Amino acid sequence: MLPLAELHLHVEGTLEADLLVTLARRNDVPLPSYDPAELTARYANFGDLQAFLDVYYANLAVLRTEQDFHDLAAAYVTRAAAAGVRRAEIFCDPQTHLANGVPLEVVFGGLGAALAEARANGLSADLIVCFLRDLGGDAAEELLRQALPFREHFIGVGLDSAEVGWPPALFRRAYEMAAAEGLHRVAHAGEEGGPEYVREALDALGVERIDHGNRALEDADLVARLRDERVPLTVCPLSNVALKGVARIEEHPLPRMLELGLVATLNSDDPAYFGGGIDANVAAVRTSLGLTDDDLATLAANSFEAAFIGETDRARWLAEVAAWRAG
Ligand code: ADE
Ligand code: ZN
Repeated sequence: MLPLAELHLHVEGTLEADLLVTLARRNDVPLPSYDPAELTARYANFGDLQAFLDVYYANLAVLRTEQDFHDLAAAYVTRAAAAGVRRAEIFCDPQTHLANGVPLEVVFGGLGAALAEARANGLSADLIVCFLRDLGGDAAEELLRQALPFREHFIGVGLDSAEVGWPPALFRRAYEMAAAEGLHRVAHAGEEGGPEYVREALDALGVERIDHGNRALEDADLVARLRDERVPLTVCPLSNVALKGVARIEEHPLPRMLELGLVATLNSDDPAYFGGGIDANVAAVRTSLGLTDDDLATLAANSFEAAFIGETDRARWLAEVAAWRAG
């Protein structure tokens, strides 16, 4: 199996319908349906990113206790390890849970316990705290201040939620605070927003990777910069099709990104909602985009180049990819 790092994965987006129903019953939280198949069927036709986010945030009301957060993350890391993931850098959205009345102790306690178990079982995993861009820059700074006492639980900050109308520069001070704390910095950009969002994430926020980045391809100078500076793009093909950024999987720009020499990586974003995890994304790009084993090995090598890991782990996993490529 192809060894990979998964670098663009929202833990809240791994909430499968079965677990959603279990947690709703456990915590007495109402759902529109208690039939996992019917709930999953509702995910088949999101009009855009916001239509998805409305469902995603509503479902998160079922997460109440440390045990709930543990069970969510534990289920993901078990599936990821079985799919060949060696390293997972996992986004979480604490502002959503705070708004639901769940304190950060509960969020980090539960997620942290699951990741400690994952590490004991040989999967390398860390958390990246995301700012919800549609809550604005002041709220991002406030979240970071509240999260710093839990600094041992996360290695970086990210920026997610509705993109258009919420340009990266609004978050400059929050990212400066994060940099001063020695935190890694990434941001969603170019998912629905244009190339200017990608450029601004690099210039105003100093990000080390771009999450998605698809619309960077509309700007040749920006493509040259991403290629020359080897800025990784964490690309999510099934997500892009589900949220209508790309009309059909056959039209996904991932092959073009590789041709252009970009450091593209393959990721699942919100696997409970977009038709499956990293393995489903691998299958889709193989069968519908015609990517070869050699291309897949390049994506895997890119993922370990882009991961926030030590050089010993990087060398070990790159050697595993080289062995896989050699067959
Ligand atoms: N939050 C969860 N998934 C997201 C995505 N694909 N884009 C922006 N915010 C998100
Ligand atoms: Zn995402």
